[in-house]
Formats: sequence, structure tokens, C-alpha cells
Amino acid sequence: MPEATMAASMQQAVQTGYALAAFNVVTLEHAEGIIAGAERAGRPVILQISENAVGFHGGRVGPIAAAMHELAAAASVPVILHLDHIESQAVQDQAEAALITSIMIDNGRFPYDENVERTATAVDVLHGGQVFVEAELGWVGGKDSQVVSAHQPGVRTDPAQAAEYVAATGVDALAVAVGSSHAMTSQTATLDIDLIRALATAVPVPLVLHGSSGVPDEMLRAACAAGMSKINVGTALNIAFTGSLRSTLSAADGVDPRPHLAAARDAVATAVQHVLGTISTY
Ligand code: G3H
Ligand code: ZN
Repeated sequence: MPEATMAASMQQAVQTGYALAAFNVVTLEHAEGIIAGAERAGRPVILQISENAVGFHGGRVGPIAAAMHELAAAASVPVILHLDHIESQAVQDQAEAALITSIMIDNGRFPYDENVERTATAVDVLHGGQVFVEAELGWVGGKDSQVVSAHQPGVRTDPAQAAEYVAATGVDALAVAVGSSHAMTSQTATLDIDLIRALATAVPVPLVLHGSSGVPDEMLRAACAAGMSKINVGTALNIAFTGSLRSTLSAADGVDPRPHLAAARDAVATAVQHVLGTISTY
């Protein structure tokens, strides 16, 4: 089916009360596995490429994005493409040629005033090209351990400041710090559900939860019910992918990578199906 847009899909998520899930793509097999999982679940899905993943692909958005467009067009569920945690102008500038019309501009590492100024400038430019813009206020943490910020895990996004931030920048969606942290390998995070409710009331655009791999299933459902509209998952897929590779490689001889990659891709699909099942049943 034709690729879906972030703006229309997010609007539908807000109207229906069911969040969208966004999964990080590293390799072609991730993208294939994510779409297979979404098709099994019968749910729309967001494929996102982070700046780190662009780095892995030699700094080029185009090749992996082209593959994702092809996969999206052939999928039986709506698929949206998104660039995630974009910090550099060099990557932002590739979005147009790669036909990606949704970007998270990540200025969460800057102090509030500088975050506002940089994000508002980016929004001006990107809205001129009809690009949907997500930004982050607060610091979810865990992604880049050398960064020292006033918004480390444990520091939450303030609802009044979030409303002011959205008005000052014009962003279309807002990532908020409510207790999750990136790159957790166990589901032990505790979210502040009351804060999510307060943010959903105060902020006029959809809210985004980053670092969702570390959130227990029940709490993820509660976060969606409280007003989260986009649930970002990366590490859980890599646990599935790498865990599968580790186990099949250690049990086999031979040099053909395909059986191992096929099993890893299927493990990604199973993980995606689980997340989509979790957030669509509350
Ligand atoms: O932006 C991506 C997500 O926040 C992924 O976080 O790897 O902890 O699930 P995660
Ligand atoms: Zn994130």
C-alpha cells in the first residue's frame, strides 16, 4: 500500500487513543523484520533511522532509505519513514533527497534557551518543505553516556515549560522525559504516569516516549492510556537480533550468513509483534 505520512498517522493515533510504535532500523533485515511483525499484528508501523544508524551506513541516508521505501510500498499495513535523533545538519540535509518527510531534531543536549532557538530555526526550514518535526524537551538519557546535561535520567519534563516550548518552536510532536532511559536491556524503568497525563493536558501536540525498551509491558499500556502517542523502541530489537545470531552461530558450522540472518530477522518480527500487541490492548 502507499507509504503513510507521519502527520496523518499521528492525527489518527491521537483521535483513536492508540499510539503508534516506531522501531529503529539498523540493517535491511531490521526493516524487513519490523514490517513482517507489523503485518502479523495488523498494525501500522514507523520505521526510523537514527543518526547513529546513518553513521553506520557511512553517513548516507539514501541507500537504506531507498530499501525502506520499497518495503513500505509492498507492505500490507501502513508504513511511515522517519529520521530519529538527528543532531547534524549534514544528515538533516539528506532528508529531502531521501524522500523522508518526518524528522526528530535532537537538541535535547542543549540548555533550554538554546534548544528553543535551534529547534525553532530548524522547524522554520523544515515546515517550508512540509516536513513533520519532532523535538525533545528534557533529557531521556542513556543514548550518549559522555554527555553531561541538566536533564539526566530522573529529571522530568515540566508541563508548563513543555507548553511554552511547543508554542515557541512550532514542533509537531514532543519527546518528553518521564522516567524512561535509552538502551536499557531489561524492562525495569518506572514511568511517571501522572506526569504523562499532565503533559498530555498541557501540550497541544502528540507526545513521544523514547527509551521504551526498558519499560515493562503494563506500564507501556498505562503510558499509552495516559496520552503517549508514539512509542520508540530500538534496543529490544537488537536484543532479539543479536541474541538470535549468537545462538544460531554458536550452534552451526559453515559460512553462509543467510540462515543466521533469517532467524535474526524473524526474532525482530516476533519482538515487534509483541510490542504492537502490548500497546494496542489497553
Ligand atoms: O529513539 C529511539 C528510542 O528512544 C529507542 O530507545 O533503544 O531504549 O528502546 P531504546
Ligand atoms: Zn530515543
